[in-house]
Amino acid sequence: MIRISGIGTLVLAAWLVLLAHPAEADPQAIQVYKSPACGCCQKWVDHLRSRGYNVTISDVPDVSRVKRDLGVPSGASSCHTALVGGYFIEGHVPEEDISRLLAERPNIAGLAVPGMPVGSPGMEGPNPHAYSVLAVHKDGKVTVFAEHRP
Ligand code: CU
Ligand code: CU
Repeated sequence: MIRISGIGTLVLAAWLVLLAHPAEADPQAIQVYKSPACGCCQKWVDHLRSRGYNVTISDVPDVSRVKRDLGVPSGASSCHTALVGGYFIEGHVPEEDISRLLAERPNIAGLAVPGMPVGSPGMEGPNPHAYSVLAVHKDGKVTVFAEHRP
């Protein structure tokens, strides 16, 4: 008969926890697909890096192909497309919405800020606009995830 001491139980419990959560990818690791010529994309990358994200950039000649492959609805499209924690991030989505997404982990496909509203991260400028961050559901429907006002 196997007897497990108190310490042994603790070690076993810790080991089971590790098994249940196998070396999950760093939730702050984000892959960005963008055109090499896109200046506002780079500024959005800088925004994420300044908040501690580990950003990997893939410069691609045709970002629309990436959007199609990931299922970004054409009406929600912007300049760059990113992947984090199994979600796509389309356009100039603020970091705080990405961290909320990763904390809440809703059953959606991704987040999108359609177009490139002035006032969103990476699109700073005079006369900032109010804009919405959309939750893109797996069936392609969109709902409002967050609203931002200048
Ligand atoms: Cu842009
Ligand atoms: Cu961009």
